[in-house]
Amino acid sequence: MKGKRLKLLLYLVLGLVVGAAAGLVLRFKVIDRGAPGRVAETLAPALGGPFSLVDQHGKNVTDADFRGRFMLIYFGYTYCPDVCPTELQDMGLALDALGAAGDSVQPVFVTIDPERDTVAALAHYADLFHPRLVALTGTSEQVAAVAKAYGVYYARSEAEPGASEGEYLMDHSTFIYLMGPDGGYLARFPHGTSTDALAEGILNFL
Ligand code: NI
Repeated sequence: MKGKRLKLLLYLVLGLVVGAAAGLVLRFKVIDRGAPGRVAETLAPALGGPFSLVDQHGKNVTDADFRGRFMLIYFGYTYCPDVCPTELQDMGLALDALGAAGDSVQPVFVTIDPERDTVAALAHYADLFHPRLVALTGTSEQVAAVAKAYGVYYARSEAEPGASEGEYLMDHSTFIYLMGPDGGYLARFPHGTSTDALAEGILNFL
């Protein structure tokens, strides 16, 4: 009788322990996804890699120039009517919200429309968003290479009927990428991530 009771008690304790562990795992999973709005995707395949481009001052820039700092990278184009300006503004606001902690994060804009986004065009554009924003362009091949490395899709969309030469929109993916001081991929934030969620997502890695 006593042995049976002990066994029962053991089963009870075991059940509680297993239950608590399962609860903990579940809780971590929920926390993982818990930030308000959209959240960082940290489980993407190895993204990023070496690149060689030109900044808005005409200076040659490679990925190695950013070692030791975090990079917050967005791919877009200056003629973009809506998404790109919003995303770039959010990046700037998120970094400002981080205060001094944000100083170790370098905001970077890479054009996927090098034909129109010349060095001069980028110089004007970068000024609109953040004083520290580095805007990069290059040859079509250089841009294609960096976009491929980051898994960025882009393509010229059909011109509207009656549009003149050089009047076109670009389809492109809209992630904001966070890269570590070693150049390695940390996370990417989908279009629509709130400024707060972006700042919080970045802070997790600083
Ligand atoms: Ni855009």
